[in-house]
Amino acid sequence: TNTVEGMKKIRAVLFDAYGTLFDVYSIALLAEQLFPAQGQRLAQLWRDKQIEYTRLITTSNFGAHYQPFWTLTEAALRYAIKTVAPAARIGWDSGGFEEHHRALMGQYRHLSVFPEAREVLGALRERSLATGILSNGDPEMLEISVRSAGLDLLLDHVISVHPVRLFKTAPEAYALGPVATGVSAEQTLFVSANSWDALAATWFGFQTLWLNPSCCHAMA
Ligand code: LAC
Repeated sequence: TNTVEGMKKIRAVLFDAYGTLFDVYSIALLAEQLFPAQGQRLAQLWRDKQIEYTRLITTSNFGAHYQPFWTLTEAALRYAIKTVAPAARIGWDSGGFEEHHRALMGQYRHLSVFPEAREVLGALRERSLATGILSNGDPEMLEISVRSAGLDLLLDHVISVHPVRLFKTAPEAYALGPVATGVSAEQTLFVSANSWDALAATWFGFQTLWLNPSCCHAMA
């Protein structure tokens, strides 16, 4: 139910990672430097292909073809670069392609966090709510992102879909949240800037908050 009275008291707040807590805008900036006038397009193609791969895996044979999110992100970037950059680009064969690929993947590894994220997480902890990330990211990349953004002390749980070998929007992926926190789905608030993620989290049974990217973030 949507009424405030009908809502269960929230005891845990779980966040999506990429585009929600971590600001992926710096990627478009670097992409624009490397591929003038194509940065925004490259970033969008990259993101779309990355999510398409997660869906292909999740809807095919129960995760039998699972590959970590980092690997899919690398493959998606190859596709995006090849799409925006002419194959005959000067220097491409002598390592230019790999260099650009490496630079963008490096940026993805060390994304900055939205400035308000720290404040929000701190305020939630003060109210004794459990905090966490529930992400498609594999454990290693999440750990590096969380540490380099200085969020480790503000998050009680960093939950990766990795153990179930299925990505969001599979219910098995969302189910990892309540298992880790010990808080039921209906007493958990799930926060995402991805509309599809917020919708599927609602279907799963979480209370949800969709951060509309056209409202508050530069890019989803
Ligand atoms: C994640 C992607 C979907 O962190 O943003 O799960």
